[in-house]
Amino acid sequence: MKKAFKWIGIVIGSLIGLLLAVGVVLYFMGTARLNRTYDFPPSNIVLPTDAASIEYGRHRVETLCQGCHGQDLSGVENWFDGGPLGTIDSANITTGEGGVGVDFTTEDYVRAIRHGIDGKGKPIFMVAVPSTAHLSDEDLGAIIAYIMTVPPVDHKTNGQNFTPLAKILAAAGVLGDLPVEVVSHDVHVTAPDRGVSVEYGEYLVNINDCRVCHGQELAGGPSPDPTATWISPNLTPGGELGFWAEEQFIATLRTGVTPGGHQLNENMPWQDYALFYDDELKAIWLYLQSLPRLEQATK
Ligand code: HEC
Ligand code: HEC
Repeated sequence: MKKAFKWIGIVIGSLIGLLLAVGVVLYFMGTARLNRTYDFPPSNIVLPTDAASIEYGRHRVETLCQGCHGQDLSGVENWFDGGPLGTIDSANITTGEGGVGVDFTTEDYVRAIRHGIDGKGKPIFMVAVPSTAHLSDEDLGAIIAYIMTVPPVDHKTNGQNFTPLAKILAAAGVLGDLPVEVVSHDVHVTAPDRGVSVEYGEYLVNINDCRVCHGQELAGGPSPDPTATWISPNLTPGGELGFWAEEQFIATLRTGVTPGGHQLNENMPWQDYALFYDDELKAIWLYLQSLPRLEQATK
């Protein structure tokens, strides 16, 4: 009997030892993955100085960046709260104290927005990067030029605060891909002319995060947040939108209420999209209606 206990003890002890060893190895692998540095050739984007371009940059920022970085762009604390995994603050992107703008060059902004890395070349958790990487040089230049004109706001944000558990899960691949690992680093997008066209609608859908949540094919899919369980709806004519008219689509994004009277929940950032110009919403509508009629996707 005693002997059996001894053996059980040895087996359990070895298992715990093995688990700890695996945990430690994964912890270091995860840390290495999060601290790896990347480098990309400079974009040589030249910032525009004319009022029309800066105004266009302002409009892109209000529809594209303010939802995550705050009205005054000074960053949002605990933008992601993963409980036992830790938190991520979105950065203060102004030139105020604690803002990245204090020492950022144009290329530093480009590296963050197009490649998903910080000033030191390390991965950032800005889930929007696979979308913002599709901005044309001209539009990205307008955005950066505008950001440099916004009033500086003093606000210290803390970036990534990951727990050891998060690092272990990052190594095990449970947390999904880092933006820098999935984004196409050599896309050179030429933006179509601004106007009510399928092409411009597609451009707006690509640079905004519609595909991050509604799936690559826009037929719906799971939340990009690995700790959430919601599924976003199908935006192709195979979903509800197959029964809508243009005015109903515009009204939905402006008011957050669908033609069927459903109030869209906070996972759908319609308040940001409510600021799209009429012509932009019309272009997006044209593009969505031009898509193949797909079934609701769930993964
Ligand atoms: C979906 C949310 C989201 C959107 C949309 C978004 N950001 Fe971010 N951004 C973040 C988060 C979160 C961080 C911090 C990531 C980290 O510390 O790992 C960040 C970090 C940054 C950084 C700092 C990089 C560094 O060196 O630390 C810059 C610059 C930036 N964003 C600019 C922009 C601009 C410009 C836009 C609009 C074109 C934008 N972001 C849109 C969430 C977002
Ligand atoms: C952060 C995730 C997220 C992003 C980004 C996002 N959506 Fe959504 N969207 C959702 C979710 C979740 C719902 C469903 C909300 C509900 O039912 O309460 C939704 C609902 C919708 C609906 C209503 C569909 C229906 O069948 O009722 C439309 C239209 C829509 N989104 C369009 C867009 C467009 C266009 C974009 C890009 C400009 C976009 N969404 C970006 C998450 C997102």
